[in-house]
Amino acid sequence: MKNIKEWELGLRDKIFKINNRLIEVVSSVEPHLDEMAKYTIEAGGKRVRPILTILSYSISGKNDYDYILDLAVSNELVHTASLIHDDVMDSSEMRRGRETLYHKYGIYNAIVVGDYLFTKGYELASKYGKDVAKVLAWGASKLAEGQVREYSNMGNLDISEETYIKIISDKTANFFAACAQAAAMAGGADENTQMNLHQFAYEMGLAFQITDDILDIVGDQGVTGKPIFNDIKQSTITLPIIYALNHGNKYRSELRNLIVNPSGGKERDERIKSILADSGALDYSFKQAKFHSEKSIEYLGKTGKSPSLDTLMDLSLLVIDRVSAAL
Ligand code: IPE
Ligand code: IPE
Ligand code: MG
Ligand code: MG
Repeated sequence: MKNIKEWELGLRDKIFKINNRLIEVVSSVEPHLDEMAKYTIEAGGKRVRPILTILSYSISGKNDYDYILDLAVSNELVHTASLIHDDVMDSSEMRRGRETLYHKYGIYNAIVVGDYLFTKGYELASKYGKDVAKVLAWGASKLAEGQVREYSNMGNLDISEETYIKIISDKTANFFAACAQAAAMAGGADENTQMNLHQFAYEMGLAFQITDDILDIVGDQGVTGKPIFNDIKQSTITLPIIYALNHGNKYRSELRNLIVNPSGGKERDERIKSILADSGALDYSFKQAKFHSEKSIEYLGKTGKSPSLDTLMDLSLLVIDRVSAAL
């Protein structure tokens, strides 16, 4: 497996083109909208979904990257739009190492800029025909369902692991799946390959979100570009907490009190962190992420030989590798 730097280096030209095209398509004659739309895009981001799109397309046997570029860009626009709205829902003040859009420009502007990026994304996707656009629309509508389900479960300390998986399936994994499937469709892949890529990306998406949820606890803001402990601050109950609450009476009531009681600052966060480590909750969550990453690779193996196979496999391994150093 390559490390993240080596992996990104191999994709440098593609990421460069994605970034240029993103800036081009969000340009607006309205200067304030132009400024705000570029604000989050220019901050960067890992560009996982557009890369997933391009590599899934090439699994289908195609290598006309200029053709697929706009679909990749479309997927990143829809994702970025969802992040702008997500930061409002999560009251999060930092994204991609910058002040979040809503925090800098206000909630009303964040709503409109999110809408603008969604529509720009669908405009680009429409070039690939209605079946491709329909898959993406499905993924984005699942994302909305997942976000609302998560919001309704805020503060629910009795949330089950099953409900958590349902939430992250919809808010994250199904959109990953849609990106890969739409790209395979645009590349003319047969239905079997489309479905294997869909499943590959779905499982990788689950691994990705579980990892993100672990990083909310043990991550480094300098690396993730967003505040740590924000999920707990918002009472969004993620897998490590669910596990710790359900395994071992020793921690249950203390953990419940710590989560319910927002005061306590850094000391409280440190105590929560050590409970999650001592109860085995962080290890368990990492194991689950690893399980889904491995499952994703099984689906990938069913797509047949292709030059992009190793790069996609590395992506799924790197998704969980982000957290191993922090545990
Ligand atoms: C953040 O996505 C939302 C999640 C699904 C966890 P990314 O971690 O891909 O965010 P960027 O695009 O790199 O900023
Ligand atoms: C949001 O998940 C995922 C979306 C699909 C928008 P998170 O709330 O965990 O994402 P971050 O941590 O803010 O990036
Ligand atoms: Mg969030
Ligand atoms: Mg998160």
